[in-house]
Amino acid sequence: MPGFELIGQEERDALNALMDEGGVFFAHGFDAKRKRYHVRELESDFREFLSCHDALCVSSGTAAIKVALKSLGVGFGDEVITQGFNFIADFEAIIDCGATPVVAGSDDTLNMDPAQLEGLITDKTKAIMPVHMLGVPARLDEIFAIAARHNIPVIEDACEAIGAKYNGRYAGTLGAAGVFSFDYGKAITTGEGGLVILNDEKMAVTARQYHDHGHMNLPDIPRGLDRAGVAGFNYRMSELNAVVGKVQLKKLDYIVAESGKRYKALDQGITSGVYKKRAVPEGAEPAYDTYIVEVADAQIREHAIQLLGDMGFGTKNLPDAMNWHCSVFWDHMGFDTKTQAQLDTLALLERQIAIPVMLGKPVEDFAELAVALNGLTG
Ligand SMILES: Cc1ncc(COP(=O)(O)O)c(C=O)c1O
Repeated sequence: MPGFELIGQEERDALNALMDEGGVFFAHGFDAKRKRYHVRELESDFREFLSCHDALCVSSGTAAIKVALKSLGVGFGDEVITQGFNFIADFEAIIDCGATPVVAGSDDTLNMDPAQLEGLITDKTKAIMPVHMLGVPARLDEIFAIAARHNIPVIEDACEAIGAKYNGRYAGTLGAAGVFSFDYGKAITTGEGGLVILNDEKMAVTARQYHDHGHMNLPDIPRGLDRAGVAGFNYRMSELNAVVGKVQLKKLDYIVAESGKRYKALDQGITSGVYKKRAVPEGAEPAYDTYIVEVADAQIREHAIQLLGDMGFGTKNLPDAMNWHCSVFWDHMGFDTKTQAQLDTLALLERQIAIPVMLGKPVEDFAELAVALNGLTG
């Protein structure tokens, strides 16, 4: 979340420098006119930062999901298993591919419950897409074990978990593909933007072609003289966004470290039995941008939300934007939204409070908030 808090002079300077380079071009082409390729530079920075096979910049996180699904060949009649606590984009991308979303409920991490996964697999299942919601990775060891047994690829939606880790590796880099979003609300932001992380060369080639009208971008054939490799679309990132992204990526370690101090002040400070803390899987390190507690008592929950408002923290997503984060509300999309797993997810989410971890507030304020929350008894 704090990317937008730290956007400033460095990003402005980088944008000004771009204006002096002869034009704002597409990500590719115009070789004789341009001085630099900023999208390609950002991709190279991400490949190095994430230690992944390939990183492809695209126009949004939603586009990243669509490109990842297409690179796996997801199409009409296929099923993709994802989770009810989600953002609507995952369902939009699945449906836009002509496939059907199949919905798992949540465990105590609030992410995909591995115990429900195997029962949802059919011979139409083409991909499994766990979503690391609000900074905490899903139980990937269990999910990968089930996926491997059935030979089904996993796409990690790490849009809300940029900088989180699992078994020492960045969330988003462990599956066949992973996705990030750089929209305004994410850990690092380019205003709009996304990244597809690919660990397989065949998928990477398809993804690169698909996001750029099918262009092959072969080094020895000028753009325009090549032929389309696949039926594609335009999901390219703009050079303007990439310029900002390169500066923001340099801030990510600092953002995660500083967020971690604030998150831990809450985690250590909240001691009242009124609050059930969100589980973090063994071996996972959150991105620390949100702290979530479950409050079973409706009256205390109301008081806690009031207190968060009074102390200037506010809440996010839960409860603020439930309609956009729980699949029960998406009847307009033509799949069964009222399965037991989804109704259970709604009931679970209705007990949660998501506290935004902002760098604009010092660590001490988070420790004080914990003390104040401990004082609520009904
Ligand atoms: C979990 C998740 N997936 C996908 C997206 C889509 O990203 P974008 O807004 O960049 O399209 C978001 C954005 O909020 C998200 O939170």
